[in-house]
Order: sequence, then C-alpha cells, then structure tokens
Amino acid sequence: MSKPELTLGIETSCDETAAAVVADGRRVLANVVASQIDLHQQYGGVFPELASRRHLEAIVPVLEESLNEAGAGWDDLSLIAVTNGPGLVGSLLVGLSAAKALSFARGLPLVGVHHVLGHIFANFLDRATDMSSDPGADDPSRDRSGERVMLPAVCLVVSGGHTDLFYLDESRASLLGRTRDDAAGEAFDKVARLLELPYPGGPNIDRLAREGDPSAIPFPRAMLEQEGYDFSFSGLKTAVAVYLEKERGAGRHPRKVDVAASFQRAVVDVLVTRTLAAARDYGVGSVLLAGGVAANSELRRIMEAEARQIGLTVHAPPLKLCTDNAAMIACAGYHLWKAGIADGLDLDVGARLPFPETIPAGTVLPGRSGGGE
Ligand code: KG4
Ligand code: ZN
Repeated sequence: MSKPELTLGIETSCDETAAAVVADGRRVLANVVASQIDLHQQYGGVFPELASRRHLEAIVPVLEESLNEAGAGWDDLSLIAVTNGPGLVGSLLVGLSAAKALSFARGLPLVGVHHVLGHIFANFLDRATDMSSDPGADDPSRDRSGERVMLPAVCLVVSGGHTDLFYLDESRASLLGRTRDDAAGEAFDKVARLLELPYPGGPNIDRLAREGDPSAIPFPRAMLEQEGYDFSFSGLKTAVAVYLEKERGAGRHPRKVDVAASFQRAVVDVLVTRTLAAARDYGVGSVLLAGGVAANSELRRIMEAEARQIGLTVHAPPLKLCTDNAAMIACAGYHLWKAGIADGLDLDVGARLPFPETIPAGTVLPGRSGGGE
C-alpha cells in the first residue's frame, strides 16, 4: 500500500483554534480544537479582538498537538488546507498567516477553504475514527455502516452564522434557500440568553429541552406557509421574548424547560419540513446535515424519523465534526487539491467570502479514483 497523503487543516474563523491531520482526505488522525468559550462567556457572545488575540496564543501549541496526536512530522505532510473565510477577519488572519508560513517554510501546497464548504465535507470523513468517546455514538442519524454518502443530496448547513439549504451533486452546490435574518444557531444563542443560560446557548437549550414539553407553548413556525426554501428565525426569537415578558409581567414563572423545548421544536419543525420538501422536489435519495446546530439531538432524531418514512437516508457527522473543527477543512481542502485547485501565498481572507461555484464532491464518491495528482 502506498503511503497515505496527509493534510494539515487549520481553522480559526470564529472562536475555536483548530488544527487537524487527515489521511487521504478521509481518515481523521488528529482533531484538536481549543475552544474560547471561557473567554467569551462573560460577554454572552464572541468578542472579536479578544478572539484574535487568543488565536495568536493558541495556534502554535494547537498545531504541534495535532501533529503529535497524529504521530506525524512536518515532513510527512502533503498539503496545508486553511479556512480563509467567511468569518472574523482578525481571527481568520491568524490561521491563514500560520498556514502561509508553513507552506513557504516547508514547500507545501496551500489550499484556501470556504468555511461552509468545510462543514458540508465533514459528511465525507470516515466515521469510525474519533468517535469512541462521542456521546452521540448511538445516534440513529449516524451513518452506521461506514457506507459512503450518495449524491445528489440535499444538504442543510445550520450553524451560528449560516442557515443554508443546498442541492448537492458531484461538482456543484446550488443554494436553494437561506435564512432571511438570523441563523438558526444565532436564534438558539439569543433565546438561551433570554433564559439566562450561558453561551453558547445551543447545547444548553438542547439539554434543558429534554425535560420539557415541546407542545407547551405554540411558538410560530415562520415561512412555512410561503413558497420556496428560505428560513426566518428572528420572529421566533421575538415571540419567545414577548412570551417571557408577558408571563413574568403577570407575576408567573414560566418553566424554562418548556420554553426551551417548545422553542427548539419550532426551529426543528421548520428545518425538517423545508429540507424534506426540497429533497422530495429534487428527487434526491439522501439528506446531509452540517454545522453546529446539526449536533442538536432533536433535529437529528426528527429528521431521521421523518426522512425514513419517505425512504430517504440522513447523514450527519459525529457531534465533534458538526461544530467548528479543522478536520472538515482538511477534508474539503484535500478534495479541492485533488481536483487541481490550489492557492498561492497571495491568498487573502474574506469576511464575506462567496461560496465557491464548483465543489469537487465527486472526488469523494466510492469507486472514484479522485482525479488530480
Ligand atoms: O458551526 P459552529 O460551531 O460555528 C459556526 O460556524 O457558527 O456552530 C455554532 C452554533 C452555535 O450557535 C451553537 O449554539 C450551535 O451551533 N450549537 C447547537 C448545538 N451545539 C452547537 N445548537 C443546538 N443544539 C446543539 N446541540
Ligand atoms: Zn462553523
């Protein structure tokens, strides 16, 4: 067997300093994520200047740890893949500067990766590698058999910054719909703040909601009566705020668990209904989930159950690969490189980097050699 090609992935677009080593664009050998949650918790959200400063402190130790964990040396690497947007400019610059320095010093090719493309490609990483300690290991939406994702598919990217629905085939991702205001994760974080839960709100609401009644409060399901595949979450956030104000104003103490469960169910209903409608309309056989909110247990459970009823398969990365990480960036970068795409040292960051027009998802399908090199 020939030596595996190792990609070093680097991700610093928001508040995680992450580095990963991925073999042949598929096998995760190391996945190191240094979270800044402790730093930003006191502000209830990400504080950009502090984020870049923390990235600067963390980047070298995180890179070294990822190589140690993979048992690899600098000379074993074939490629460096780095997130170059969208995100916080100061944060992105730390990762990109490190990637450029390493590329120059080691003579390694460099590939810039769009953050959302990275989230999508998390679905193409091998499942078994870093999941033994994953609390979602029994998750029914887990791609159980190690079978590969089949395309075309519909892919829902739900994170703190994005709620995008794509039609995905072997070479392109076409945007079918997106949020018109807040991202789903943003709504989770804002509602968590209303409920006085610590940042980031998503996982805390997820936990709390398990003890609540999802039908206790009939929060609105925005946009479902409208055509198309767009989303809107700011009205839902306002509805929660108004409800809490009214209840508290009347001297009542609304049960947080019921508010969390009812809010979460409203978000999940909209995400599932829209995604499955798109899957049906476009005649695809599988649905992919991606992004931090794809770690939500209720979203995974309901999407899986409803998709199964209409004969669709749901794929979702393990929890650790849903939230920001560098393994997904290494995966996307490797397949871009295999498709002949590489960047020079003039690569720049883009706070609002546009989504790439072509994506080489075909290079990861089974039975394909992967072109390029
Ligand atoms: O993908 P990600 O790590 O960063 C961005 O690209 O934004 O997503 C972070 C978002 C946050 O809004 C966080 O609250 C949300 O994902 N999140 C969740 C869960 N875990 C993370 N939302 C709902 N349920 C979860 N279990
Ligand atoms: Zn993300």
